[in-house]
Amino acid sequence: MRWLAQAFLAIALAEAQSTYPNTTTPGGNGTTPIESQYATSPPFYPSPWGDGTGAGWAEAYSKAQAFVKQLTLLEKVNLTTGVGWEGEACVGNVGAIPRLGFPALCMQDSPVGVRFADYVSAFTSGGTVAASWDRGEWYRRGYQMGTEHRKKGVDVQLGPVVGPLGRNPKGGRNWEGFSPDPVLSGIAVAETVRGIQDAGVIACTKHYILNEQEHFRSPGDFEDFGSVDAISSNVDDKTLHELYLWPFADAVRAGTGSIMCSYNKANNSQVCQNSHLQNYLLKGELGFQGFIMSDWSAQHSGVASTFAGLDMTMPGDTAFDSGMSFWGPNLTLSVLNGTVPEWRVDDMAVRIMAAYYFVGRDTASVPTNFNSWNLDTYGYQHPFAGVGYGLINQHIDVRDDHFRSIRIAAAKSTVLLKNSGVLPLTGREKFTAVFGDDSTENPYGPNGCADHGCDNGTLAMGWGSGTAFYPYLVTPLEAIKREISDVGGVIQSVVDNWAYSEIDALAKQASVAVVFVNADSGEGYITVDGNMGDRNNLTLWQDGETLIKNVSGLCNNTIVVIHSVGPVLVDSWYDSENITGIIWAGLPGEQSGNSIADVLYGRVNPGGKLPFTFGTNESEYGPDLIYEPTNGHDSPQDDFEEGVFIDYRAFDKNNITPIYEFGFGLSYTTFSYSNLNVTKVPAGPYTPTTGNTGPAPVLGNYSTNPADYQWPANLTYVEAYIYPYLNSTDFDTASSDNDYGLNYTWPDGATDGSPQPRVAAGGGPGGNPQLYDVLFSVTATITNNGTVPGDEVPQLYISLGGADDPKVALRNFERLSIQAGQSATFTADITRRDVSNWDTVSQNWVITNSTKTVYVGSSSRTLPLSATLSF
Ligand SMILES: *[C@@H]1O[C@H](CO)[C@@H](O)[C@H](O)[C@H]1NC(C)=O
Ligand SMILES: *[C@@H]1O[C@H](CO)[C@@H](O)[C@H](O)[C@H]1NC(C)=O
Ligand SMILES: *[C@@H]1O[C@H](CO)[C@@H](O)[C@H](O)[C@H]1NC(C)=O
Ligand SMILES: *[C@@H]1O[C@H](CO)[C@@H](O)[C@H](O)[C@H]1NC(C)=O
Ligand SMILES: *[C@@H]1O[C@H](CO)[C@@H](O)[C@H](O)[C@H]1NC(C)=O
Ligand SMILES: *[C@@H]1O[C@H](CO)[C@@H](O)[C@H](O)[C@H]1NC(C)=O
Ligand SMILES: *[C@@H]1O[C@H](CO)[C@@H](O)[C@H](O)[C@H]1NC(C)=O
Ligand SMILES: *[C@@H]1O[C@H](CO)[C@@H](O)[C@H](O)[C@H]1NC(C)=O
Ligand SMILES: *[C@@H]1O[C@H](CO)[C@@H](O)[C@H](O)[C@H]1NC(C)=O
Ligand SMILES: *[C@@H]1O[C@H](CO)[C@@H](O)[C@H](O)[C@H]1NC(C)=O
Repeated sequence: MRWLAQAFLAIALAEAQSTYPNTTTPGGNGTTPIESQYATSPPFYPSPWGDGTGAGWAEAYSKAQAFVKQLTLLEKVNLTTGVGWEGEACVGNVGAIPRLGFPALCMQDSPVGVRFADYVSAFTSGGTVAASWDRGEWYRRGYQMGTEHRKKGVDVQLGPVVGPLGRNPKGGRNWEGFSPDPVLSGIAVAETVRGIQDAGVIACTKHYILNEQEHFRSPGDFEDFGSVDAISSNVDDKTLHELYLWPFADAVRAGTGSIMCSYNKANNSQVCQNSHLQNYLLKGELGFQGFIMSDWSAQHSGVASTFAGLDMTMPGDTAFDSGMSFWGPNLTLSVLNGTVPEWRVDDMAVRIMAAYYFVGRDTASVPTNFNSWNLDTYGYQHPFAGVGYGLINQHIDVRDDHFRSIRIAAAKSTVLLKNSGVLPLTGREKFTAVFGDDSTENPYGPNGCADHGCDNGTLAMGWGSGTAFYPYLVTPLEAIKREISDVGGVIQSVVDNWAYSEIDALAKQASVAVVFVNADSGEGYITVDGNMGDRNNLTLWQDGETLIKNVSGLCNNTIVVIHSVGPVLVDSWYDSENITGIIWAGLPGEQSGNSIADVLYGRVNPGGKLPFTFGTNESEYGPDLIYEPTNGHDSPQDDFEEGVFIDYRAFDKNNITPIYEFGFGLSYTTFSYSNLNVTKVPAGPYTPTTGNTGPAPVLGNYSTNPADYQWPANLTYVEAYIYPYLNSTDFDTASSDNDYGLNYTWPDGATDGSPQPRVAAGGGPGGNPQLYDVLFSVTATITNNGTVPGDEVPQLYISLGGADDPKVALRNFERLSIQAGQSATFTADITRRDVSNWDTVSQNWVITNSTKTVYVGSSSRTLPLSATLSF
């Protein structure tokens, strides 16, 4: 990240001047295809001020406003601006308010646990736990992660992830999020947000939005291409609403206190200064009451991002450790020189503090007791500056008994793809052989590669900032060896994938062979085996295909276990008769071996379902990622011309039969479906929200005397740290900006604090509350026809019936545990949003006249029950 940051500045300045496109509909109007450089993002100003709408927010707002009323302008600026990279203990901290004894808020990665800390748990990854289709597991995982963050002294957990959504399976960070299906992702993110925040920590749902690949996500200098501006994801309004924005609406509705704006551009405007995405959609239409935080160095302008809705800049400096900031002193200046109205800074501060009170941090907070940059007990409080030597790590063990639920969650997320009848194993097999580098420990240790940026040993987490240290990593080989040795069986292994003669010799002896293979990906600042974050291909890593073929060529009872970040190509081997079982185990986290052993040996009957599709080749998934510049030094234009047709929707549309479809997963028992009953539920009509907001609250007043903003005499300056103070009473000098005072024209309305029209599709967190009215209630009977208890996930899909609609789209599901021979009732609601399409002209959701059909079944392609919805 460091090397990229240096290149930001020049581009950022140019960007600030050309932010305001001049057409009225983003990326065309949804009825015409996207055309690259013509995709523009229309202006929307002023930035909506929070008003406390939504359950729990009113009280949080009154506390936040009371708090902010006491603050000076400098103190408000401190709340909004990070102190700079490696300035404090966390991956990001804003300034403190010493006068009130208010600590410097701590932002910490990651979506799978507390990053850069010891004595923490390494949880199952988002894209894997999605496969449990289990609301309770998602909530519990969120609650436990939140608890660990709270006990380490973290205010904001940087997760969960619903962007990338997973437009293309090679996207490097897909595994951090849940699923390319917006409904599965939406329900998972809502449960996770509730879990984290019930534990007293602010969730930061990220990355908003359309950050669907790692290559060119930020402007930067590239060895092979020179400087290249950030990629522009060009998407039309309908696709945005029906696909990518959908799970963010669920996160907002669940009360997420924070949302992180992403690195990329969308419709040719940098997202963290994109007024359409931040002001109109997120704060206007979705009624988001919390604060927008920039991704690390994703802010590229000062005043422009202020007006476009950004509320907190991370890590605060223009480039890592430049000592300069687009905000900090510049934000102070922009208010003093009359460019930015005070209400806008008040709104930033109130939003941050409202999130703080909303999750109860006023009572839940403990001082930060670890340091991201050093695991030693003693070290520097300000690591970049190398000052403040003292106790920095208390090594507090925050794990509690979370290992138990991590093991359960990972086992519940394991998907059985093929079973010729040999699974579950009994443990009494005469000769068990285990194969693969993926079955064993990384020779460098489980945390041996920085940010897990390598693919050595068993894969249980991808790489990048979305990671945490393992307290241990239970490997599959250890767990299977314990299983077999405990009963006095025979178990041997070869973990070198290229030891062909040893592999052959062992495979021939085995009565059952278990082969472990993997495919990894991660964040773009680390390149592993030539993969710059994004995967270069969908095949197995470490020559896994050859390993499988070598073993299965000599052993007629070969079980393949896949640890991967997403789908992999299995077409050349999956139907071999010698391959008697295939299991997708995803990225299970610290309990990996125990979880897979639970499934292999039948203690857990698998009930996981694929959160994505296994196809036969890459092209079936739609447009490829962009790996090389396509527009010279300008933004590569990434036209999302496939619209809403990603993953199974693309396969369905193009009549491609996948190998294992979205929603698919076997069990050690079988289920049947019957008795579909669709009942209409009375609900009022849909009424667009009308009327005006109140005026922007102005909280307190500020001194206009520049002398009051100079450096305090008694301050101990920390090198490269970002403070809110001015160097000089002369503003031009204080800004240190060559372009200071250039007569920029700021967008119309940006400073207008008078009452504003409300957005018709808005009205509450997540949008117009009537979108969530239940219109139908659906039940069906699910029967376990086998001899063992098992879990089944009945899935409800809807066909909206229009020419441009997916054949079927997931709308609801429920994981049921059913005893052998027994039946259970599947119950699911269908809301107004579930049966609506986004109308680009009225800028609202509408129920079209097309015939709508509801389907219930065990996968996106096995849908035995159906009924027409009558409105
Ligand atoms: C509108 O935007 C286009 C592309 O950004 C630009 O070329 C054109 O000059 C702009 N027109 C006006 C009237 O500002
Ligand atoms: C959308 O834009 C196209 C091209 O500018 C235009 O022909 C069409 O009428 C527009 N449709 C709507 C509904 O505004
Ligand atoms: C701003 O934050 C810094 C760093 O925490 C602190 O030293 C300074 O006193 C704060 N300034 C004000 C005005 O609170
Ligand atoms: C103010 O922002 C500009 C970029 O807009 C930057 O060049 C300058 O260094 C900043 N000033 C301070 C004091 O951080
Ligand atoms: C006010 O200050 C900001 C931040 O330094 C600067 O970007 C802007 O150009 C200034 N406005 C005026 C009118 O000087
Ligand atoms: C780690 O994996 C890489 C290939 O990804 C390989 O070149 C290297 O030898 C491995 N290192 C160890 C110690 O296994
Ligand atoms: C796909 O990428 C992996 C990881 O870099 C590599 O091991 C494998 O050889 C590649 N496959 C093909 C067909 O190039
Ligand atoms: C299956 O395994 C047997 C050994 O048990 C071997 O003779 C045969 O060639 C294998 N078949 C395939 C298709 O690999
Ligand atoms: C594998 O082959 C052996 C020997 O022919 C046979 O006894 C056994 O049933 C076969 N196993 C499977 C799973 O087909
Ligand atoms: C369908 O469900 C409704 C509401 O629970 C119930 O009143 C009705 O009897 C059910 N119909 C059938 C055929 O089971």
